[in-house]
Amino acid sequence: MITCKGRAELLKMERATWIVQQTLADCVAACRPGVTTEEIDRIAADGIRKRGGKAAFPGYRGYPKTVCSSVNDEVVHGIPTSKRKLRDGDIVGIDLGVIVDGYFGDAARTAVVGEVPAPVAELVRQTWLALVAGVSAVRVGGRIGDIGAAVEAVANEKGFGVVREYVGHGIGTALHEEPQVPNYGPAGKGERIREGMTLAIEPMFNLGTARVRLGPDGWTVRTADGKPSAHFEHTVVATADGPVVLGFGRYTSDGLVTGVPDETEYPVPAASPRGEPAETPGESRV
Ligand code: MF3
Ligand code: CO
Repeated sequence: MITCKGRAELLKMERATWIVQQTLADCVAACRPGVTTEEIDRIAADGIRKRGGKAAFPGYRGYPKTVCSSVNDEVVHGIPTSKRKLRDGDIVGIDLGVIVDGYFGDAARTAVVGEVPAPVAELVRQTWLALVAGVSAVRVGGRIGDIGAAVEAVANEKGFGVVREYVGHGIGTALHEEPQVPNYGPAGKGERIREGMTLAIEPMFNLGTARVRLGPDGWTVRTADGKPSAHFEHTVVATADGPVVLGFGRYTSDGLVTGVPDETEYPVPAASPRGEPAETPGESRV
């Protein structure tokens, strides 16, 4: 069943996703040579706690950590470990989920460590732009396939492989709700997008083949050819005025700001959400 959310629910999701985005910014800033993915996980756990949220991933289907950290050829669901030290030239996808008052927020970014080869930087940038394109395709009365078609068009233009085995998803009182949100079309097909639908849109692009393999740990997904992969994710609500990306103070009790926060490569909100919900205790505004 697909559930459409009302204002009170959306404000909780805004709060949860705001904690996700702030904490993701902490994690991305920490991705420097010599830092382990275990240390990134610790930064995330601390960041969520101090902002008053609950980490969504620990225990989800037995998942052991707070973030997924997927380095280079790891596509998604890499498990943080003290054995994995980031090195100059790595890229690392960081995926994070938070629960506030029973409502979920989910987002991911791919961080660049030091200097990466130009084709890898381009992969990361285009995956980000594909997320922006996918979010921009969210329209009440449109179809879920419109989102994937917009994402896929970016990959096709640049010759990147689009991962098909893993998809975006509805989100709300569970991390994964209906519908599935593939990163491929066709446009005009799939579930109709309705007002209040909340979707996690998450393109995964590969530098080489689209094919992936699940690792022996039962979680880590890698590219079949060992080439790098990038991943970005936003939690979005469809409104009559257009898509609103949650987690940036754009969904408020006193008005919406629609569109995608794409002013910078990795947008970090300037302020906590206006109006309800209340400012997180102990967290000073930037
Ligand atoms: N954001 C990821 C997704 O939507 C969540 C990873 S699942 C977990 O697929 F098990 F790692 F929590
Ligand atoms: Co997700």
